[in-house]
Amino acid sequence: MKLFIVLVLLHHVAMATAVVGCLSDQDKDHRPRENCTAAGYSDIPSGLDLATKVLLFPSNQFSRLSWSSFQIFPEIYEVDLTSNQVPEVAPSGGPLLPTLSVLRLGANLLTALPDGSFSACPGLTELYLDRNAIHALSDHAFSGLSRLEILDLSSNHIKVLPQLMLHPLPAIETLFLENNMIQEMPDDWFSQKEEVPYLYLSANPWSCSCSLLYLRRYLEDYEFNFYVREGPIIRSNVESVECSSPPDRKGTPVISLENIELCPPTDTTHQRGDSSQPTRTTTSTIRPSSQQSAILTTPFPTKTTMTTAMPSKRTVTFESEPSVSMGGGEKGQVTRYSVILREERGEEPEGREERDWVVGRWEVTQRGCKEEDKAAGGRG
Ligand SMILES: *[C@@H]1O[C@H](CO)[C@@H](O)[C@H](O)[C@H]1NC(C)=O
Repeated sequence: MKLFIVLVLLHHVAMATAVVGCLSDQDKDHRPRENCTAAGYSDIPSGLDLATKVLLFPSNQFSRLSWSSFQIFPEIYEVDLTSNQVPEVAPSGGPLLPTLSVLRLGANLLTALPDGSFSACPGLTELYLDRNAIHALSDHAFSGLSRLEILDLSSNHIKVLPQLMLHPLPAIETLFLENNMIQEMPDDWFSQKEEVPYLYLSANPWSCSCSLLYLRRYLEDYEFNFYVREGPIIRSNVESVECSSPPDRKGTPVISLENIELCPPTDTTHQRGDSSQPTRTTTSTIRPSSQQSAILTTPFPTKTTMTTAMPSKRTVTFESEPSVSMGGGEKGQVTRYSVILREERGEEPEGREERDWVVGRWEVTQRGCKEEDKAAGGRG
């Protein structure tokens, strides 16, 4: 009789506390979650609710990633294995985890990503691989990830960007590559999806020579897409992509160099690129230094007039009032904008000093989100 009571009590306790070290709750979208942070596990403990969609195991002792071990959770959405000891990811024979959308493998022991590393989870939209020791990537490392929007490869040892690495990623929106050992970017690297709205390429030893002509042009074409981050704060900063070599260019923003400085014509032995393409005119862009930042006093979107001798396209970053009337008259709580001002094209004679500019696009960078609009450039 006594034994019976003890067993009943034990059973009751087990139901109430679920699995030792794990907390059952829900994520912000009400997905059932098991939070087993720093619980000392090296494998998935038994007893977890199989309806769980979010499994958190940061700072545990996982020393391998077994895709099939997660198959017991048929609706698994997110797996967090940050700060474990996973040394490799193995391609699987098929899509074992078709519902998996978010995979966090930051701060593990990964050194390489073989072809098709993530074939087990083709539905990934976010993949975090930061703070590993990844040095080798292949063209096909991310093949099959047609829905991937966020890829974090920051703080690894990547030296070479594979030419076709981005080709399997038509949905990519955010690419973190800062703090690696990248010196060059292959020509046409972004050709598959030309515009990637959030790019982080700072803290790499960019080698400023002819081989960077493509990146130099890309920086100019998409200068509002380059960011740096400090914790949760992101800041637009195209000048964060800096030369590391040659020595006399160390610390120079790549975008500030003219093509002719990156690739002097005397250096014809290293001239790259398709000679049938016309050379891009470099005199059309002159970047203002930060001291020359313009203060826009008119609400936008609207036309404003600046007096400038600068020709063509330029970027102006400015501080606005803390509360600014946005497009539809809605108030935004935003204090900082990056704005591209585009010259209205008119056949003005060279050297004319006063030009009209319109706000062509703006981005909200303070809140970690981005809103944009394209105000038609029609002269009012
Ligand atoms: C998981 O639990 C730990 C404490 O054990 C807590 O610090 C952490 O914020 C929790 N994670 C989430 C995403 O709620």
